Amino acid sequence: MSKTAEIKFEDKTYKLPIVVGTENEVGVDIGKLRGESGLITLDPGYKNTGATTSAITFLDGEKGILRYRGYSIEELAEKSSFLEVSYLLIYGELPTVPQLTDFQNQIKVHTLVHEDIKKILEGFPSNAHPMGVLSSLVTALTAFYPESLDPNRSAEKVNLSIIRIMAKMPTFAAWAYKNEIGHPVNYPDNTLDYCGNFLKMMFALPAEKYDVDPVIASALNKLLILHADHEQNCSTSTVRIVGSAQASLYASISAGINALWGPLHGGANSAVINMLENIRKDGGDTKKWMAKAKDKDDPFRLMGFGHRVYKNFDPRAKIIKKAADDVLDKLGVNDPILEIAKGLEQEALSDPYFVERKLYPNVDFYSGIIYRALGIPVDMFTVMFALGRLPGWIAQWKEMRENNEPIGRPRQIYVGENLRAYKEMNKR
Ligand code: CMC
Repeated sequence: MSKTAEIKFEDKTYKLPIVVGTENEVGVDIGKLRGESGLITLDPGYKNTGATTSAITFLDGEKGILRYRGYSIEELAEKSSFLEVSYLLIYGELPTVPQLTDFQNQIKVHTLVHEDIKKILEGFPSNAHPMGVLSSLVTALTAFYPESLDPNRSAEKVNLSIIRIMAKMPTFAAWAYKNEIGHPVNYPDNTLDYCGNFLKMMFALPAEKYDVDPVIASALNKLLILHADHEQNCSTSTVRIVGSAQASLYASISAGINALWGPLHGGANSAVINMLENIRKDGGDTKKWMAKAKDKDDPFRLMGFGHRVYKNFDPRAKIIKKAADDVLDKLGVNDPILEIAKGLEQEALSDPYFVERKLYPNVDFYSGIIYRALGIPVDMFTVMFALGRLPGWIAQWKEMRENNEPIGRPRQIYVGENLRAYKEMNKR
């Protein structure tokens, strides 16, 4: 007999089905609870609420485990390419050689964007934040491909939308950067692979030969893989919830980009570098800044520390910390903020405030140091995160659609005024 949980309220007991995942995670299905008892569950920030069952990413925050479709993040980061991982996330299996070649070729066909999108880009002032530019250009795709507006079209048509956005996001991201620095944009170079093409669009200068540095391309490949999915986080939940209203893929991804922008989510990678730079300029006294982070009257938080689900360590941070050392070493970069970051981590690991609250470096703590060494400016860091997270968002949107999930619509407990009589303005 399948297991149930019970809720006793007043003089009645309600039996609730138990859902068990393939990794033995256990959830109480409260879907019928309100209908039977009038009760809802209250969980601000969805700290303990499963919004879906999903077969994409497995994460165990206590043990520091992260797997995409059953493959460990450590192995994927070591052995695969970003497009291979994207294929895995979106279609469920690692590709064969012909499948990957076909996927790459399909993407190459769509890297170019409509010239009129350039006009939209040119309408942005140069100080526009590239995340705002990116989300706007992704939304603009709905105008250039109106057939994408209907997510109920054939699987083939939906797949075309998927390929298009995979192909065009690097172009948008690089163009947002070029717009910011006032340089002419570079068009995609389809002789290069995904990362090489992006780097060339970012850094090639007019009339100068640009050779992709294999160290930089490989570091970028690893960073994108590490960011590719992270189950039901803020931006992914946003993508799923927007998509659940049958909004198009592009509208849903654009919403995800905006959610990611926040400093408590993807925006943390820029915030970390700004913080480390401030500490450096302030003389590098890490103890002073640790004290600020612990002071409840001070709004300062140690950016890049803490995580909603990782309460032991973030496996991505472990890989990135090692990669940061390797990349800086290979590129011959000596960045003083790397030492400040390591000093902060060392202190936090033995500080009761951080130990008791299980606050460890997260993926964003060291990623910015690598981006900086690769020559990527700070306000582009979150764009890089978005580029990496794109296949995850697509996979989650696709899964939500294929599972026919209902529109997302949480409930609330109302705590405002009870019914009161309207008073004419002159009597208030
Ligand atoms: N510095 C100082 N104190 C902290 C920090 C921090 N970075 N993070 C959490 N705390 C404290 C917090 O003040 C609270 O203390 P108390 O129990 O005394 O009130 C306790 O730890 C629990 O924090 P919380 O805010 O309730 O935890 P949460 O799960 O709601 O928030 C978080 C998680 C990531 C938003 C938070 O740790 C944070 O703001 N970190 C800094 C921003 C950051 O690095 N974000 C990137 C996350 S990883 C990338 C991604 O996937 O988005």
